[in-house]
Amino acid sequence: MCGIFACFIHGSDTLSEREVAGVLLNGLGRLEYRGYDSAGLCLSRSSTCVCSSEQPAVQDQFCPRLLKTVGTVSVLRELVDREMSPGSVNGANGRRAKCTDDSRRGSCAVGQRCGTTHVGIAHTRWATHGAVSVENCHPHVSSAELEFVVVHNGIITNYQALKEMLLKKGTRFESDTDTEVVVKLIHYLYSTLLEAPSESSRKTASASIPFEKLVMHLMRHLEGAFALIFLSTKYPGQIVACKRGSPLVIGLKGEYNVSERTKGGHFSKTDSAARITSSKLSKGATASLSLGRTRNLDSEGRGHDELNDSTQYFFASDVNAIVEHTDRVLYTEDNDIVSVRSGELQVFNVTSEFSYENEDEQMVVPNRQVSTIQMELHEIMKGSFPHFMKKEIFEQPESIKQTMRGRILNGSEVHLTGVREHMSDIRKSTRLIFVASGTSYNACMASRQILEELSEIPVIVELAGDFMDRLCPIFRSDVVAFVSQSGETADTLDALKYARKHGAMCMGIVNVVGSSISRLTDFGVHLNAGSEIGVASTKVYTSQIVVMVMIALELSADSKNKSARRIAILQGLRELSANIEKTILLVDEHVQRIADQLADDRSILCFGRGYHYATCVEAALKIKEVAYIHTEGINAGELKHGPIALVDENLPIVVFSSMDLTAVKVQSAIHQLLARGVRQRLIVVCSESDTQMLELVASREGVDVIKVAHTVDCLQSVLSIIPMQLLSYYLAVARKLNVDCPRNLAKSVTVH
Ligand code: UD1
Ligand code: GLU
Ligand code: MG
Repeated sequence: MCGIFACFIHGSDTLSEREVAGVLLNGLGRLEYRGYDSAGLCLSRSSTCVCSSEQPAVQDQFCPRLLKTVGTVSVLRELVDREMSPGSVNGANGRRAKCTDDSRRGSCAVGQRCGTTHVGIAHTRWATHGAVSVENCHPHVSSAELEFVVVHNGIITNYQALKEMLLKKGTRFESDTDTEVVVKLIHYLYSTLLEAPSESSRKTASASIPFEKLVMHLMRHLEGAFALIFLSTKYPGQIVACKRGSPLVIGLKGEYNVSERTKGGHFSKTDSAARITSSKLSKGATASLSLGRTRNLDSEGRGHDELNDSTQYFFASDVNAIVEHTDRVLYTEDNDIVSVRSGELQVFNVTSEFSYENEDEQMVVPNRQVSTIQMELHEIMKGSFPHFMKKEIFEQPESIKQTMRGRILNGSEVHLTGVREHMSDIRKSTRLIFVASGTSYNACMASRQILEELSEIPVIVELAGDFMDRLCPIFRSDVVAFVSQSGETADTLDALKYARKHGAMCMGIVNVVGSSISRLTDFGVHLNAGSEIGVASTKVYTSQIVVMVMIALELSADSKNKSARRIAILQGLRELSANIEKTILLVDEHVQRIADQLADDRSILCFGRGYHYATCVEAALKIKEVAYIHTEGINAGELKHGPIALVDENLPIVVFSSMDLTAVKVQSAIHQLLARGVRQRLIVVCSESDTQMLELVASREGVDVIKVAHTVDCLQSVLSIIPMQLLSYYLAVARKLNVDCPRNLAKSVTVH
């Protein structure tokens, strides 16, 4: 939800500010799919001495540029084009800061030319506090001189109390956002720490507070969820970010070394590989994991540090904005502070109670790993498709294959590393609880029956928000699974933290490797469905079902009396990709025609039961999400308990037929609907082998039958949802709606 992006680019004197703005705009473009209503950026150029990692001497500082607008990234791009074209003066929307603070001027200690550093932060906002307006857009600033500038993803829950405190101190506010409080507060802390009255705190301030330490002070005051990135004219050429609850990934580009920094301020190269842990730090080393610098000896044997010319860092809400720059990333964790100073990247983690006496001990070097991302750029491009949603629907034969790749051995044995390692604990558990929201919840519903059947353990499916509202009792004997595309869904993440606290074994089922849920769970399975950009989930839904079916198979691997059933399901999995392909071919044109007929309807009902209960609920969710038509998914067994009162000859109704124990019951529901005259508006989705249903509707003129390929019962919902994904897509296109970014929706819901 909302996008945050920042870059640090050092070394190139020829790079223009417009080009850096281009990098920021591009980054925002990659995050557009997350959902947003306004966009903004701030960038600043400076020449600072980078020979020392201490407070850098400023050789020159140019005025930061701030541009923001309501609307899309393309509107921001137009604004940038207008305001930053050669020769243009800053318009109403751009602000110019006082550039030179002569007290900070200095020259390079070793007398070299250090080059230019560009830093920039950018944001797509998904308004939570304050209307969608230019004043409320990010970046927010602490003063007209842009002394501190921030972008923020998340919500500061105690902003009101902080605002009142600052108002009493005479601070003025220009926006209604919670975010502005953050930037005013950091400025206030900066001023007060410099004038700190007490002996101990004056000690801190007199050394002129490092930026990251200032952010540490700030974090003590903040409650809620945030990823924050700061720039400041007080700290030219520096970027500091911190996070708690909202995602933040750092991309590392160019040559870099992982070094440790010792008390004396020296660097010693410990490892040029991609991993550093605290245990590797030698005695006396202080808090800093440093990247980006090498230590050279000059002709007189004095050491100085050199910043590699190509060093670049990127900060983003997710790797989609980073992948075109580098495949090396560092995932941050809660309470991390990441600072780039003199081109050196350092990661700290804020711990324990605060006191001025031992500030250093409150910022420790955490164990962090530089990972290599597997994603390819084409995954996040539309290619020849008009929309991501259509691309992702059509990608399902392949995404399902990726989900199964390497996990079905010899065609007859499922191997899920994480599940297998914890098999004995799972077998001993008394309940399997699946917690999720939205489409992920529906995928759990679609898989519940097979999980129960094969594991013989009671399976409970919970909406994450409701689970937390009830503070559902959780025991050490429970295994709780958390299912999420992004792995960052706030409700689901909260439930995970709660379940961990209660001692349950926690499993993750997520698409995004390195996401919070993936990291915080004891074990789990990555979906490997590839990036999903369309806000309405399609390919991830089908991959989630496949993974849960594989988990059910894994849990019953030793059960002799289930072997025939298992063989049938494995056969179904092997043929699934081909069956999805066949289904798309069978239904695509037919569904387009149906969409044209339904485009002006105000309401649609979907009925299904058994495995298809989830399908009808998910179908309804898809249509709501992208076509904005009220659609309800109702268990067909409930028809006579109320919903039948809605039925008349005008209301479009979709019924999902099954060929299992529920078949006869669904047929009788169809009889009841026909008896109420729905014939002209009835759509039945069934397998092409469902002869009973096909015979039932054959003689009923006007009933529209969508035939899909046939598979084993527990996988049939993977095929039956496809015409409905396409229906919602074509409805949205027919209604001329923004398919990939539906109004008010965000891809990953990282706020409450
Ligand atoms: C892993 C590698 C994959 C490699 C394959 C072959 C990763 C992420 N995956 O895939 O690149 O091709 O081995 O050997 O490196 N986990 C959680 N929570 C979750 C999801 C996963 O804790 O929500 C854990 C799992 O328990 C496991 C690890 O993360 O320990 C990797 O999971 P997964 O990617 O599903 O495993 P493999 O398919 O074996
Ligand atoms: N709460 C902030 C606002 O309303 C940030 C929202 C976001 O994450 O985009 O401005
Ligand atoms: Mg969703």
